Amino acid sequence: MKIPFLFFVFLLQFFLTSYGLNHPLDPLTPKEINQVRRIIQKSHLAPYFPNITFHFLDLDEPEKDNVLKWMSSRKGNKSFPYRRAKVVVRANHETHELVVDLATSSVTSDHVYTGHGYPPWTAIELFQAARLPAKYPKFKDSISRRGLNLSEVTCLPFTIGWFGEHVRSRAVKVSCFYRGGTTSIFARPIGGLTILVSVEPLQITQYVDRYRTPLPKAEGTDFHSAGQWPISVPCNATDAGFTINKHEVRWANWKFHVGFNARAGLIISTASILDLERKKFRNVLYRGHVSETFVPYMDPTIEWYYRTFMDIGEFGFGRSASSLIPLTDCPSNAVYMDGYMAGGDGQPQEVPNAICIFQRYAGDIAWRHTEIGVPGKVITSGQPEVTLVVRMVATVGNYDYILDWEFKENGAIKINVGLSGVVEMKGVPYKNQDQIIEEIYGNLVADNTIANNHDHFLTYYLDLDIDGNKNSFVKANLKRIHAKHSPRKSYWRVVTETAKTEADARINLGLVPTEYLVVNPNKKSKLGNNVGYGLITGQPAISLLSDDDHPQIRAAYTKYQVWVTSYNKSERWAGGFYADRSHGDDGLASWSSKDRSIKNEDIVLWYTIGLHHSPVQEDFPVMSTLNSGFELRPANFFQRNPLLKH
Ligand code: MN
Ligand code: CU
Repeated sequence: MKIPFLFFVFLLQFFLTSYGLNHPLDPLTPKEINQVRRIIQKSHLAPYFPNITFHFLDLDEPEKDNVLKWMSSRKGNKSFPYRRAKVVVRANHETHELVVDLATSSVTSDHVYTGHGYPPWTAIELFQAARLPAKYPKFKDSISRRGLNLSEVTCLPFTIGWFGEHVRSRAVKVSCFYRGGTTSIFARPIGGLTILVSVEPLQITQYVDRYRTPLPKAEGTDFHSAGQWPISVPCNATDAGFTINKHEVRWANWKFHVGFNARAGLIISTASILDLERKKFRNVLYRGHVSETFVPYMDPTIEWYYRTFMDIGEFGFGRSASSLIPLTDCPSNAVYMDGYMAGGDGQPQEVPNAICIFQRYAGDIAWRHTEIGVPGKVITSGQPEVTLVVRMVATVGNYDYILDWEFKENGAIKINVGLSGVVEMKGVPYKNQDQIIEEIYGNLVADNTIANNHDHFLTYYLDLDIDGNKNSFVKANLKRIHAKHSPRKSYWRVVTETAKTEADARINLGLVPTEYLVVNPNKKSKLGNNVGYGLITGQPAISLLSDDDHPQIRAAYTKYQVWVTSYNKSERWAGGFYADRSHGDDGLASWSSKDRSIKNEDIVLWYTIGLHHSPVQEDFPVMSTLNSGFELRPANFFQRNPLLKH
């Protein structure tokens, strides 16, 4: 009886492994992250252990052609032929870019990066930097001279940008806050201090105590225990309404892959939609994720000028992912996915419930019509709008970014960012607007408390592959025409223009009424229109910083809301891969300056959601969610409204 039973176990295992084939874009599992670390530990870098730091450890994305080929031939139950990791480590003050092959357990390449900028910070480096002041005599002195208790002080690290200086080492500036009576540390900043911390080796390299300001009071800052209106959240959990096989989601007419990494957080890949008429899934989006953020503060003073954060490249949205709280962050019918990444020591770290997926019915109408023209009848038809939302939340210090991808049965994908959290504040002597006689770079939001003006720019990477990967970018300008032989004097007409090169596709929205489309010029609808997807834009924002301002040089891509580039696997991070202390010589603006052909090519659309934020009193002590976003919506992609099945 023994052998047949083992054979049965073998068969079962074979069935399970072939059924649950991994998708080539699946994030690295904790087991794989461990394996990658062990391979590097045994490699030529072994002598540097344990003083090696892991700054990036992610799937080395396979070639797109190979992924698409594998997906179309998947019925053969063949595993994807390779699995590699891309790793960036610091060893002996050098940045090594490694490729690790998991099948052969080997480091297949090691390139020492010598260009400008540094890889993302590890959490442990930042934690250690923030702990230094507490042991620093001059700092202890500053705290006691302010009459404060050192045990109530929390210090936090801030990235410092680049201002034209010759960069010699990795460094952060540490700002400190006073808890004393509140859990909202950002509400009680200790002003006047500049603490520069060099990280390799770890030491305070500059310390300045320039002025003292009143510490904002603790009263009224604590949102944690504040009362709330008694509104009850419905918790009648229903059917999820969709299926998940590992990372692949199927819902209504959509199927797509949900990934996660330390840098982007949530990544949507290989999204395709079922065309009932053609009885097949058609590609829409090969890969989409938030690529970079730029948050410059509008305060040029010594203690604030450097606050020009590029959070994704400097730290990472995945690394900042919050575990989602049922019924607060996601509704009762949500299904959760955990996120995994490597810590600074190369060990796997888990973010439980990093992503939630749920069907949303918000009481909206997908379509409707009342027909009163049929004699003797009033005919009303319609359909409720039910959508599928994929969500994560990145809490980057004081701010919380709620990142949603919403899939609609009508073929649209809606991308939304909700901003919440606590604004950055500074202490001032003023308790009323009337007392202010100097420029304060923000608004008074509470007694002795200024919230500083700033921007939020979130740039999305959208590798649209509409019905195949040869696409074009079309600008459909609405032009006023003078009418002839008509009582009318004018009307508008759509005049389309296909962008030839990358220079034709740097767009400032809102200047000329224009619709923007990504079309497949090789595929036409039955009526002869090019199949495509339109970009439904949100309220545009453009960076107001001057072109020669160093933060703007680093984030040059924020001068336009829309860019289209020629697809290149390595061009994914709008601010450049090495965003920390970057000089602006890598990134979206420099790639676009190559001015490559984008007509009937594999192209990538980049869209920047921007918000200028001049804070108001209601943003204190915590800001209620402010939403902004955009939508990708089918345009002559289907023969007719896909919500109607027959
Ligand atoms: Mn593309
Ligand atoms: Cu803001």
